[in-house]
Amino acid sequence: MGNIKKSFFNKKGGIVKTIAIVNQKGGCGKTTIAINLSAALVKKNYKVLLVDLDPQAHATYSLGANANLSITDIMEAIAENKQLSCEDILKSLWENFYIIPSSIGLASLEHRLINKENKLALLSSLLKNILNFDYCILDCPPNLGLLTLNALWTSQYAIIPLSMCDYSLRGVEILKNIILMIKEQQNSCPITFYLLNGVDKRYKFVENFITKAKLQLNTLLLDTQIRTNIHLREAASSGKSIFQYKPDSRGAQDFYTLAEEVEKITSQSNWVSLFLKDNSFSEVYVAGDFNNWNKDQKYRLSKIGDIWSINLALDKGKYCYKFVNQESWFSDPHNNLTETDPFGGKNSVLIIK
Ligand SMILES: Nc1ncnc2c1ncn2[C@@H]1O[C@H](COP(=O)(O)OP(=O)(O)OP(=O)(O)O)[C@@H](O)[C@H]1O
Ligand SMILES: [Mg+2]
Repeated sequence: MGNIKKSFFNKKGGIVKTIAIVNQKGGCGKTTIAINLSAALVKKNYKVLLVDLDPQAHATYSLGANANLSITDIMEAIAENKQLSCEDILKSLWENFYIIPSSIGLASLEHRLINKENKLALLSSLLKNILNFDYCILDCPPNLGLLTLNALWTSQYAIIPLSMCDYSLRGVEILKNIILMIKEQQNSCPITFYLLNGVDKRYKFVENFITKAKLQLNTLLLDTQIRTNIHLREAASSGKSIFQYKPDSRGAQDFYTLAEEVEKITSQSNWVSLFLKDNSFSEVYVAGDFNNWNKDQKYRLSKIGDIWSINLALDKGKYCYKFVNQESWFSDPHNNLTETDPFGGKNSVLIIK
C-alpha cells in the first residue's frame, strides 16, 4: 500500500524522483515552475532532467533547446517498438541540467496513440531507461489528454499550480478524479500538492483567496508561495532560468525556497495518499496509530469536488486507522485491508514496507 512505486533507481542507488507539474488550466504557471524548480534543484547540486511534454514546446523554446529529435520521436519509437536511445534525445543545457525537448508533432502523435495498448505507460517505459538523475520534472500540457495521463501514471509526485482566482480551485476537480482513478488501478498514485503562483498581496482578493485555499487544502498546500515577479516573465523570453537572468530577484528567492520544500518532501520515501468520495460530510479526519487516534487539524482531509484526501508520510511498519466525521468513526472504503477492532468493528490497515 506504500505509495512510492514506479521507482527508477539512479546510479547512486537512490530513486529518481519524478514530479509532474500539472493542471489543465492554461497559463497558471506550469512551465515557469517546471523550468525554475528544475534550475533551483540544479543549484542545490542535484542532477535534473526536465521533460517537456507540451506540444506548444514552451519550456523547450524558453531554454533555447529546440533540436532535431524530440520527445515526439522517442514516444513514436516506443509506440512502434523501435529502438531509439534516450541518450540521443537528452540535451544538455548546462552542468547537471538536461532536457528532453518537445515539438509540435507531439500533438498529432497523441491522436495516433489513443488506441495503443499500454498507452498510459509509454512515458514510464521511456523513463525507466533514464537512470542517472536525482530529479525528473515533467512539464504537462494544458489539457487532460494522453500525455498528461502518461505523466501522472509515471510520477511519484505531482504539483498543481493554482493561480489567484476562485475557479482555479474548482477547475482541479476532474484532475483529482483522475488521480483517484490511477490509485484504484495501480494501488498507488502521485502524491499531490498544490502551489500558489502569481501571489501579489497588495490585492485584497489575493489575501482572501489564500485564506480560502489554506482552509480548503490544509496540508496539501505547499508552504512556499511564488510571488508575481516580472523577472520570471522576462527570464522566459530571454531563454534563461531566473537564476541566470536575475539571481537576486524575488522570483529566484521563491524558487530556491520551493526547491528546499520539494527536497524535504521527496526525502520522505513512505508517502501514502488516502481518499474518500463523499458529498454529505462537512469535515473528515483520519485517526490511527500514527497520531494516537486523535482528531488533529493536521489530519483533517482536504475536499476538492466530492473527493476528500490527505497525504501521510509514515515510517515503515503496520498502522490501523479510521476516518472520522463528527462523532462517527468508519473504515476506509477504498482499502480492502482491515482488522477487527476491540469494539467488534473494522479498522483499516496500512502496511508500509
Ligand atoms: N509568478 C509569476 N510572475 C510573473 N509572471 C508569471 C509568473 N508565473 C507565470 N508567469 C507568466 O505567465 C505566463 C503563463 O505562465 P506559464 O507559461 O508558465 O503557464 P503554463 O501553465 O505553463 O501555460 P500553458 O498552460 O499554456 O502551458 C507566462 O508569460 C509566464 O512568464
Ligand atoms: Mg506551459
